[in-house]
Amino acid sequence: MKTTIVQEGKVKLIVPNSKYKLDSKMPVFYNPVMKLNRDISVILLKALDFKGKAVDIMSASGARAVRLKKELGSGIEVTANDLNPSARKLMKKNAVLNKVTLHITSENAESKFGTFDYIDVDPFGTPVPYLDAAVKSLRNNGILAVTATDTSNLCGTYPAACFRKYGAKPLRNELMNEIGIRILMKKVQEVGAQYEIALTPIFCHTSSHYMRVYFRAKQGADRADAILKEHGFFKKAGPLWLGKLWDEELVEKMNAQNFGYETEQLIYTIKQEAKIHTLGFFDLHRLAKDKRIKHLPKINEVIYKLIDKGFKASRTHFNMNAIRTNASEKDVLKFIDLA
Ligand SMILES: C[S@@+](CC[C@H](N)C(=O)[O-])C[C@H]1O[C@@H](n2cnc3c(N)ncnc32)[C@H](O)[C@@H]1O
Repeated sequence: MKTTIVQEGKVKLIVPNSKYKLDSKMPVFYNPVMKLNRDISVILLKALDFKGKAVDIMSASGARAVRLKKELGSGIEVTANDLNPSARKLMKKNAVLNKVTLHITSENAESKFGTFDYIDVDPFGTPVPYLDAAVKSLRNNGILAVTATDTSNLCGTYPAACFRKYGAKPLRNELMNEIGIRILMKKVQEVGAQYEIALTPIFCHTSSHYMRVYFRAKQGADRADAILKEHGFFKKAGPLWLGKLWDEELVEKMNAQNFGYETEQLIYTIKQEAKIHTLGFFDLHRLAKDKRIKHLPKINEVIYKLIDKGFKASRTHFNMNAIRTNASEKDVLKFIDLA
């Protein structure tokens, strides 16, 4: 395999060079775009002051595993797992290059693989085949992180596939990213509930081609039942998670400084929107089209007006043209006129 060395976060990584096409046929998968995804896992675990056993169950080059070990300091034991033998070789090299100790394993992520306080599920496409094993391998109070790259299912391009995999109807409109992530949450929570584990979302984001959700696990049938009670429908979409998308206190502690512009911006926006507990948001372009508004003011002007009048309002990272607010559509329309 032809390799090159890249810098990501506080580590250097040996990865396949640019002659390989970025797809699942790469000898070992490495996607630089997922730096943001990996940054957030580091930032979130730091904010939680995480100590314990962590596993990246599909570790590929070991990028995330090496970063967790290096950037979280002492108190964390990291396992990097992958079925691909070339991946295992590369993880070893990356651990040596960065002078960190990793436990390197080659378990099938579809069956229970140990007991961990943090489990990262980052597959090609849908995470559904790996959820059962991940939930069973999670300690009480543990954190489960799940990536889904089958956003075309979750966002309604292929509703039949969404129904098959996630047991829910998606939406194909301006709300699709939030609705999709709520469907993903519902699915993971259902798997948890089967084992009397309540999975409460603590953080999530949709970025480029993927969705990412983080849960805190608590054992208990009553707790799991309470989670299921927060499943329901929105418009024609669902069932989906109707509860909070972020743990505000945790989000407040997340510090993205020095992680680069993209990561800092994402955390900045989520810090604002996490304070507003609404399902969905108002897309100004959609409102302008529906209501035939000719001159649309700048989004920030509408947000400032809303805040000025005592409403909560912010941008949402799910949609660049939208406002998350506790104001009604009627009020938003009024402030579009006034802005
Ligand atoms: C999207 S990549 C993981 C990327 C990695 N987490 C990162 O941040 O760079 C998916 C990986 O899952 C591995 N894989 C696929 N099926 C697996 C299975 N059943 N058990 C363990 N690993 C598997 C593949 O070899 C591949 O390296």
